[in-house]
Amino acid sequence: MTESLLGAAAPAPGALRDWLARVVADPALHARFVNSLARMEYVGVRKMLKARRAEALDLDGLQHLLEEAGHALRLKRAALALNGGAEAGVATFAESDTLAGDAAEAYLQEVDRACEALLAELPAAERAEANYLLSSAAIEVRAQAFYPLYEEVLRAAGGPFSVRAILKDEDRHLAEMRARLAARFGAGAGALLARALEREAAAFARWEAAMAAAAPLTPPRPAGTPR
Ligand SMILES: [Fe+2]
Ligand SMILES: [Fe+2]
Repeated sequence: MTESLLGAAAPAPGALRDWLARVVADPALHARFVNSLARMEYVGVRKMLKARRAEALDLDGLQHLLEEAGHALRLKRAALALNGGAEAGVATFAESDTLAGDAAEAYLQEVDRACEALLAELPAAERAEANYLLSSAAIEVRAQAFYPLYEEVLRAAGGPFSVRAILKDEDRHLAEMRARLAARFGAGAGALLARALEREAAAFARWEAAMAAAAPLTPPRPAGTPR
């Protein structure tokens, strides 16, 4: 989530960093945001479980599933800790327990659909596995930009936990997806991923705008307040 990757919906350069700093400074808001991240990790697991047939699942595939489930659990526990150990407010992944959680899930669905469209020419039997590789790669590219920025903001604020271990897993997942895309699509893999990333950036801009709307950087001015 470098600034150059921010879409047109981003209000200003550096806006995401400022927004994260504002969220991290407010533990209740931060708890719901971290719960949204946990929801995304969980939805990622669910997508893998649905897309991958046992015949195609190897050790790396199984490990990928378990690591993403581990990220969801780790982030869920962090959300609970930020919430003072109380479940109320972050108990589930419902919209009210997350920060723009529906928009976060919509982002993943949009990336999934965009990749599906890019792979529409493939034989039906090969599409789900190819979509797993392409959509995972696109999302891991985003994770590789987003988690370092979030970690930086956490450290600057003296945050109570770290996402470094998650980032390390995501780096490995991305390398694996890139290698598998190259093995599957040969010389065309780079161009295919570039097209997926274009669509991903647009989807991310929509999610980012939803997060900004759910927790405005400047609280809205009460009606009737003189300017
Ligand atoms: Fe993850
Ligand atoms: Fe991952």
